[in-house]
Amino acid sequence: MKYGYFDNANREYVITRPDTPAPWTNYLGTEKFCTVISHNAGGYSFYDSPEYHRVTKFRPNASFDRPGHYVYLRDDESGDYWSISWQPVAKSLEEAKYEIRHGLSYSKFRCEYSGITATKTLFVPKGEDAEIWDIVLRNTGETPRTISAFSFVEFSFSHIASDNQNHQMSLYSAGTEYHQGVIEYDLYYNTDEFEGFYYLASTFDPDSYDGQRDRFLGPYRDESNPIAVVNGQCSDSVQTCYNHCGSLHKQFVIQPGEEVRFAFILGLGKGNGTRLRHKYQNPAEVDAAFAAIRHHWDKRCSRFQVTTPNEGLDTMINTWTLYQAETCVVWSRFASFIEVGGRTGLGYRDTAQDAMAVPHSNPEMTRKRIIDLLRGQVKAGYGLHLFDPDWFDPDKADVKPSKSPTVVPTPSDDDKIHGIEDTCSDDHLWLVPTICRYVMETGETSFFDEEIPYADGGNATVYQHMKAALDFTEQYVGATGIAKGLRADWNDCLNLGGGESSMVAFLHYWAITEFIELAKFLNRPEDVAHYQTMADKVRCACEQHLWDEEGGWYIRGITRNGEKVGTSQQAEGKVHLESNTWAVVSGTVSEERGRKAMDAVDEYLYSGFGLHLNAPAFTQPNDDIGFVTRVYPGVKENGAIFSHPNPWAWVAEAKLGRGNQAMKFYDALNPYNQNDDIETRISEPYSYVQFVMGRDHQDHGRANHPWLTGTSGWAYIAATNHILGVRLSFDGLVIDPCIPTEWPGFEVSREWRGCRYNISVKNPDNVSRGIKTITLNGQEINGAIPPQPAGSDNEVIVIMGE
Ligand code: NOJ
Repeated sequence: MKYGYFDNANREYVITRPDTPAPWTNYLGTEKFCTVISHNAGGYSFYDSPEYHRVTKFRPNASFDRPGHYVYLRDDESGDYWSISWQPVAKSLEEAKYEIRHGLSYSKFRCEYSGITATKTLFVPKGEDAEIWDIVLRNTGETPRTISAFSFVEFSFSHIASDNQNHQMSLYSAGTEYHQGVIEYDLYYNTDEFEGFYYLASTFDPDSYDGQRDRFLGPYRDESNPIAVVNGQCSDSVQTCYNHCGSLHKQFVIQPGEEVRFAFILGLGKGNGTRLRHKYQNPAEVDAAFAAIRHHWDKRCSRFQVTTPNEGLDTMINTWTLYQAETCVVWSRFASFIEVGGRTGLGYRDTAQDAMAVPHSNPEMTRKRIIDLLRGQVKAGYGLHLFDPDWFDPDKADVKPSKSPTVVPTPSDDDKIHGIEDTCSDDHLWLVPTICRYVMETGETSFFDEEIPYADGGNATVYQHMKAALDFTEQYVGATGIAKGLRADWNDCLNLGGGESSMVAFLHYWAITEFIELAKFLNRPEDVAHYQTMADKVRCACEQHLWDEEGGWYIRGITRNGEKVGTSQQAEGKVHLESNTWAVVSGTVSEERGRKAMDAVDEYLYSGFGLHLNAPAFTQPNDDIGFVTRVYPGVKENGAIFSHPNPWAWVAEAKLGRGNQAMKFYDALNPYNQNDDIETRISEPYSYVQFVMGRDHQDHGRANHPWLTGTSGWAYIAATNHILGVRLSFDGLVIDPCIPTEWPGFEVSREWRGCRYNISVKNPDNVSRGIKTITLNGQEINGAIPPQPAGSDNEVIVIMGE
């Protein structure tokens, strides 16, 4: 069943049936002010942190997606009322027609009902800590209409998201006031805190208003039938204490064929409501602010655009996967409808991987995130698994406590910096390739010499930080020489402790070889030799201890008691995706074993919805293996289709030269391909999710936790760098595709260091891999394409063949 379609020309997903089986969300905001909003306008806003600077309320789990950022309309002659989004009033879909367009950092709601066509466009203008609701009402009938419009948002009790549940003090600590078209909400009594002052303003002069939620809704009512809307009038309520909302009301008489346009503005900072209501009274200002958001994303997306025979791949790579990856870089894993402000900060490994995908589209943020992560690394070389980058930001550490004394807690050094017992064995290793990719993209080689402090004191250059990461893992190996599992590796639920992790050993090998390329590039032969010895040692240990001859695949690890995990002898947890893909992705293992390992992945882990993480799922608790054995079979890390490692399989297949397999696995996970099977998928078809229920679960195929997943970054890297094969090395732009044999070719337009490369790949012999010739502007070249003169447009023709 379908609920909408992809409008690629506009980079939008268009929902034509609002009664989707789950709220389908979007992110508004490109700077500090952010709103997570559903296609029914449910959701919440925050400033910088959903945990500590919550602007509007959200009730996760208690209701589907309430409350939200709503506009109600009322026919003042009949008393009939509705909302521009289908929810919360929920008019019958027989009588009212709704269309929702989720675009990049904006959402447009459209409703046709009783001769009125209404649109509401929500977005966050650049340079303002506010959300604009651009409203247009059009009378499509033949008689004049008298229509009242009401806004509604429910303000957060306090800055702190969790106070919305524990509301004894919060109930009595805030208050609303009304001043000329602005409901002002003050979280602290009598202060001027910028971040403690929220507002809802309108560009019109209101006829009535409510700042008291319960006066607007009325007793024993909810957002679906507010008494103010029923009556056609707010009660001009403001007060200290209790629950607060922002409702501004105005009545319009609209002639046949005419339209009225006005805006509501939700934001923070004293005085901003009045300033912005005047600014946006000029619709040209609203249009310009909206155009700036469109331009923002057009520019980013245009850095890598593809045209291939696979429409689903084009749609996702040209727009949605990049957009999702950028969203992850900004919000890590802490603001969605699943993560609703329970914590703020960076997941070390999550951000390190997310940042790897976007150096071309967002080099500034990539650089910032790398520095955040380097500051969150300790001298011993490991990363702090979860941390708030502000703790180690010299510009913020001193400012925050004095600016918002009661809001953001400042933990003690002991609380900030954990020891080896809480260390994850993979976190720090992801940094090495991410930093290399940032410099390949930007050419900023001086970055390697920049000094960045460690979290526990002392400065080191970026290059030294990278060595510390590699050296840490070298030191923490078990009896066989394979890296220790520590608290967990990439898999949070595989807690091998003093046991050993295959995945980390392979990851270590990969990071070392990436570093060796860097050392060669920087002409540091001693480091090349030293790390080559380290790499050889790791490779020998892997080939000696991790191959399961009988099964023909790589085991997942070894417990602290020396028991192997993931062998052909075991009844459950036999084959694992992470170890077999990383054996190949890392380049550690022989091609022959790599092929066998990936054949086992196909045989044991493949389903039409993607690759399972392990099979068969665990059913017997075993604390030597970890929490994964206590998770329900088919769910999350225990035998679900865990999305994030799926692209590792695409990379592995591309490295093996098996383009048909790579595309088979790509297509299985691609949400685009489930657009007509929403009754199974449930989640939005434009976002990868954290996991899809595995074959051992009754909801097999159901997609869970959209948006904040490392899948997007890796899907982007795997498809662009490995399947299409357009990637960077320290020598230049490499073109090395691995595609399905049936593809006649494809086109890529890639911007790199201020130049454009229009790449046309032709595949006359129907191969998967192999290059006959590459010409750059008519000249045949061998190897990587070096950077071309700034501002140039370059034609690259690639002929594939044996
Ligand atoms: C989600 C976590 O954010 C990520 O860090 C982890 O790698 C995966 N779950 C797998 O456990």
